[in-house]
Amino acid sequence: MQKKWWHGKVAYQIYPKSFKDTTGSGIGDLNGVTEKLDYLKSLGVDIIWISPCYVSPLADEGYDIADYYKIDPRFGTNGDMWRLISEAKKRDMYILMDLVVNHCSDEHEWFQKALADPYGKYAGYFYFEKAVDGHAPNNWRSYFGGSAWEKVPGTDLYYLHLFHKKQPDLNWENRELREEIYKMMNWWLDRGVAGFRLDAIMNIKKALPFEAYNYEPDRDDGMCRASRMIQDAKGIGDILAEMRDRTFKPHNAFSVGEIFNNTNEQIPEFIGDNGYFSSMFDFRETILGASDKGWYDFEPVTPDEYRDACFMTQRVVDDQGMVSTIIENHDEPRGVSRYIPEGDLTDRSKKFLAVMQFMQKGLPFIYQGQEIGMENVVLHSIDEVDDISTIDEFKVAREAGLSDEAALKLVNTYSRDNARTPMQWDDSEHAGFTTGTPWLPVNPNYRQEGATSPVSADDPEIKPVNVAAENRDPDSVLNWYRKLTSLRKNSDYSDTIVYGEFIPFMEDQSNFMSFYRKGKAQTLLVLGNYRNERREVKLPGEVRQVVLNTCEDFSVKDGVLTMDGYQAVVLEMR
Ligand code: GLC
Repeated sequence: MQKKWWHGKVAYQIYPKSFKDTTGSGIGDLNGVTEKLDYLKSLGVDIIWISPCYVSPLADEGYDIADYYKIDPRFGTNGDMWRLISEAKKRDMYILMDLVVNHCSDEHEWFQKALADPYGKYAGYFYFEKAVDGHAPNNWRSYFGGSAWEKVPGTDLYYLHLFHKKQPDLNWENRELREEIYKMMNWWLDRGVAGFRLDAIMNIKKALPFEAYNYEPDRDDGMCRASRMIQDAKGIGDILAEMRDRTFKPHNAFSVGEIFNNTNEQIPEFIGDNGYFSSMFDFRETILGASDKGWYDFEPVTPDEYRDACFMTQRVVDDQGMVSTIIENHDEPRGVSRYIPEGDLTDRSKKFLAVMQFMQKGLPFIYQGQEIGMENVVLHSIDEVDDISTIDEFKVAREAGLSDEAALKLVNTYSRDNARTPMQWDDSEHAGFTTGTPWLPVNPNYRQEGATSPVSADDPEIKPVNVAAENRDPDSVLNWYRKLTSLRKNSDYSDTIVYGEFIPFMEDQSNFMSFYRKGKAQTLLVLGNYRNERREVKLPGEVRQVVLNTCEDFSVKDGVLTMDGYQAVVLEMR
């Protein structure tokens, strides 16, 4: 693998609506991001991906863009964006925009013009398709529920929307459209953004002609999930190579793809030395336990499944490229609530998960709040939910016969809103996120009286989850993340952590997640006790140094280490 400027960095995702509000509107804004740059710097963050902040009706919270060249006034102005970019530069930090180009908003000028002239130039920017026997062209179900086809008013045409009907798909077969997108990408790159995160990018190539791809229904509604078509849509590489050559390459930009449904064979093509993208997210663990039927049919994730998924990616990708690792993002529930078995959620188990992410090979992305151990929130009614996909899943679960209460439990387990509640800065009202009324409820655990998870199984002390309190506490989850980011940048170890070979250790042990990182300078052994009970581990050699340890004690007797529940250690071996 060729070395790249970003390999040793630490990245952070901001969901601007929930990060920091500087106006009292109840919605976060770009000035709030600028205000917190020093905080992010103190955490060791270099690269910041900002979820969409362009003009948008916010039907899918900004993933429905109505003007690619303009910041939505709710988030600020273009001037605020230029200031953010230049303040970030002063601190050697890089800003990534979210590039949402599988679709735009139905309120985008292109779509409005297409509706006004359904056979004209702009209709060709979308998929306006003739009805087949009076029906939609095929039986694809949109990712957010219901048919992926919507009638074009006053015609016998349908337009395609793989996501919400307010998110019409753009037609990437159309050269003019592609030129418009490259022009826009270069416009942002010329203004100093360091690159992009590419939203839903595997969907841009469709299986055509549409009517030839009616699939076996996967639910009683007679439809099939839209992602099924990705296997049949050949030739995405030609488009992505063109995009790379026209935009990223000339700017030496960083690009990270939201890639689902790829094959292992595609990895070098996507993120190899001359790949389409710099990196791609590893989502293998986020789809564990999932079912085509919907949330009501999901299975909880076990520690062994989590480990196996992470290890599988490490093996498959190996030295072919650099993946980006996550524990969560704005589309997932909080990782600590999901991957730590119920009842085991403590500061210590949160640190365990952090060690596992940071010590694997890959560019670590911290999602806002992950670094302070933010947890899922309890919503008391479906009326408190904002997210469109959650509203659909709730409906599907109710239709499958679940009670209101049982369906709400699924919401509290899987909803994207779990990750979208406001960032918890301190213990003042609304966690210091806003002086107004927050657009989504704040998790009550930002204050001592609302906090629930203890320090560890043997230390029942309960601490509030917020930045200010955790800044003061040397043992906090936040300060633990700081240790991990500084270790990644410590020149004694960075080469091993960034490039060292990944070799699983004692993989046959249940509830145990351990591996070597073998580098030129040293061999590190990462040991993680993925359960509450103690365990004894026979060390495979002599320990030169304990590099990190989530617990105070490190007791080795006759070469056997006794590990506490959820203890994680990083050892330098002789
Ligand atoms: C991606 C985004 C998600 C959005 C969807 C449609 O998966 O991460 O938030 O809803 O694409 O743009």
